[in-house]
Amino acid sequence: MGEVEASGAKNAALPLLAASLLCEKPVAYERIPHLRDVTTMLTLLGHQGAEVSFEDGGLLHVDATVATRPEAPYDIVKTMRASALVLGPLVARFGRARVSLPGGCAIGARPMDMHLRGLEAMGARIAIERGDIVAEAPKGLRGAHIVFDRVTVTGTENLMMAAVLAQGETVIENAAREPEVVNLAETLISWGARIEGAGTDRIVIQGVASLAGGRACVIPDRIEAATYLAAGLITGGDVRVTHCAPEHMDAFLARAEEAGAVIERGPDWVRARAPRRLVGVHVHTQPYPGFPTDLQAQFMALMTLAEGASMIRETIFENRFMHVPELVRMGADIRVDGDTAFVRGVPKLTGAPVMASDLRASASLVLAGLAAEGETIVQRIYHIDRGYERIEEKLGRLGADIRRVGSSESWRAAQAA
Ligand code: EPU
Repeated sequence: MGEVEASGAKNAALPLLAASLLCEKPVAYERIPHLRDVTTMLTLLGHQGAEVSFEDGGLLHVDATVATRPEAPYDIVKTMRASALVLGPLVARFGRARVSLPGGCAIGARPMDMHLRGLEAMGARIAIERGDIVAEAPKGLRGAHIVFDRVTVTGTENLMMAAVLAQGETVIENAAREPEVVNLAETLISWGARIEGAGTDRIVIQGVASLAGGRACVIPDRIEAATYLAAGLITGGDVRVTHCAPEHMDAFLARAEEAGAVIERGPDWVRARAPRRLVGVHVHTQPYPGFPTDLQAQFMALMTLAEGASMIRETIFENRFMHVPELVRMGADIRVDGDTAFVRGVPKLTGAPVMASDLRASASLVLAGLAAEGETIVQRIYHIDRGYERIEEKLGRLGADIRRVGSSESWRAAQAA
């Protein structure tokens, strides 16, 4: 059995870092993962004037009390859409913000209309100037009743952060229920915010005059943890992921069990084994607690080698099948029709040079490479460094023959040892 520790969650760390902008005192972060996207967020906070320092032992300190520049420039936002998470906190704190509007992305158009409509409902004037969102609320934001058309994770986080310093009550209906939203809400509450209902689809926030700051502890990364379990399953291995939150992984674990995986779980660990070849099962992605879109590509890699057929429907993003042609180059039998991929399991994959298109797609190619016969070279692995901490070391610890070659532009995943 191989064992590996889950890191702090990227998608929890990013909003928690943005939230430092709301505080009158510095914030100390525990379990911040060392990821490219986290570095980008720290660069952005630095650009705004915040002071950032690491302490021996892993604590990260952010002092945004000294921030003076409520803006997020295109050069930073174009490298990471989640930069837009500073919009709500900046308007709440400074009464104005200029944040570059993120363009489209490999997995879909990903507009921000619901974030902007929510801020407008809270009294902000919004204009788009030269590609920037210019938001102004000179008299401060006020509470509002916001009903999202569809569930949005960063939209919920952005507006929740704006609302904690707004005057009066804000209600967010059809709110995202992701554990990362709960992590943010609980942290804000510990700093003095008044928030109820996080984790349900109705969040109620009573604005307060200021937040004291304090500590923030990032929850374990459920997507990373499940990716390592999938690495065990695709190679017929036996993997235990520790320091994780099994209760956040129910949808993935249920589908993996249905496919024939043997799953054991404790309070903060999960062990997954595949004593036999997995069988094809159907999944469709949904907001939490449904099956996460961020595991769709990795699950598809598992299904390429399963016995029988599986149908994988992507309902969150309109273009999140970029890994399909690459998996096909490795011998997978996949046909895409609209939002659904039909996968027919094959007895083996063969190694090939492949190209990563986004973070989770690159993880699926690495998984496929672990199980494939021969050598797989995954290119453009900067995508993977955005969301997986030292993936080659962690997979290496599980027995994989994988190494980073040359620059960070290329990556090699060979057959599992
Ligand atoms: N949407 C709109 N208008 C909006 C906001 C969203 O139409 O104003 C649409 C999106 O285009 C998408 C759907 O609503 O079709 C849901 O998108 P959501 O807003 O929930 O996505 P996000 O907040 O931009 C976060 C994660 C993503 C993850 C999605 C879905 C962070 C920093 N990012 O993105 O993570 O896939 O939620 O769970 O939390 C990743 O880690 O690889 C990743 C892409």
